[in-house]
Amino acid sequence: MQTFLYRTAENSALAIQKASELLRGGGLVAIPTETVYGLAANALDEAAVRRIFEVKGRPADNPLIVHISDIAMWAPLVRAIPDAARALAQRFWPGPLSIILPQSGIVPAVTRGGLDTVAVRMPAHDTARAIIKAAGVPIAAPSANLSGSPSPTTAQHCIDDLWGRVGAIVDGGACGVGLESTVISLAGEIPTVLRPGAVTLAQLREVLGEVALHPAIGGELPETEPPLSPGMKYRHYSPNAQVVLLDAPAEGYARYANENAEAHAFALCFEEDIPLLRCPYLSYGQRLDHAAQARLLFTRLRELDRLGARVIHAHCPSRDGVGAAVYDRILRAAGGRVTAL
Ligand code: TXA
Ligand code: MG
Repeated sequence: MQTFLYRTAENSALAIQKASELLRGGGLVAIPTETVYGLAANALDEAAVRRIFEVKGRPADNPLIVHISDIAMWAPLVRAIPDAARALAQRFWPGPLSIILPQSGIVPAVTRGGLDTVAVRMPAHDTARAIIKAAGVPIAAPSANLSGSPSPTTAQHCIDDLWGRVGAIVDGGACGVGLESTVISLAGEIPTVLRPGAVTLAQLREVLGEVALHPAIGGELPETEPPLSPGMKYRHYSPNAQVVLLDAPAEGYARYANENAEAHAFALCFEEDIPLLRCPYLSYGQRLDHAAQARLLFTRLRELDRLGARVIHAHCPSRDGVGAAVYDRILRAAGGRVTAL
């Protein structure tokens, strides 16, 4: 299939118009958001949503997030909007937070992965909201990568994964956040974070008081039946290379990376590690700069694949604040194993 590339830097109005036309017609479009690029389709169009699953190679039981451009688009999708949900939306929308509530009946089961709930998010990216608004329908959008590969944070990543498989790719520049949204469920008794992101647990607790972290986060992959967030049971964010996640101070980390610098091994390090390394490396920010680590992680994993890395010795981030989200993604890329030195 022919894929069109539209650059908002060249002609933003044209990009928005073409993308929204394609979406209204049942097509698929990769669109920028502040978190990662999304593979968008009309959330209410079963056939279009089915194509998302086909194109990504995504398991059918993994539900999609529904994106809205305006708070008024939310109510029809869910059974009710409790005060807690309104308070979260008021504080964090538009922004990197997806809120799960019991569904109303208008969102097709394919979009929900067969669950009785629906995740909704209003993105903070102007182009994303403009496209949704012009399409006039809620937009289902998983990350615009092939299932299992690192999420795309630039249009080039979408081109690499999706060229010839979608109607268009909208280039809106590099994503500012770089990791997928925080996902919180308000469908149970206690608000529960199912996926950490740029909206932190501490920020959520400021608004809601008690907030639980799903036990699968930062630990073993879950084996609950049915899984609370189906997405969490799959190996994710994985480059082709084997990721060895090393939890250690700079000296210990650098010593390990230097001593194990076999052919095609790279260090994925912090800026502070660079003077200590005698092996090929890419850095993903300073040790305490979680925002930079979030922005750079997926792009570095893709670069390391391009460089032909077979082993990646990754320096483990600290787990406070947004670091919890960086840690979650890098731990999954490492197959759930972390080595303390
Ligand atoms: O930042 C983001 O959220 C990006 C951008 C494009 O908005 N989208 C994204 O979508 O990351 P995706 O499909 O890659 O991740 C959605 C996650 C999955 O882990 C899925 O299982 C979970 O959210 N999810 C969606 N709906 C759910 C529901 N009703 N109940 C439990 N988990 C749900
Ligand atoms: Mg994804």
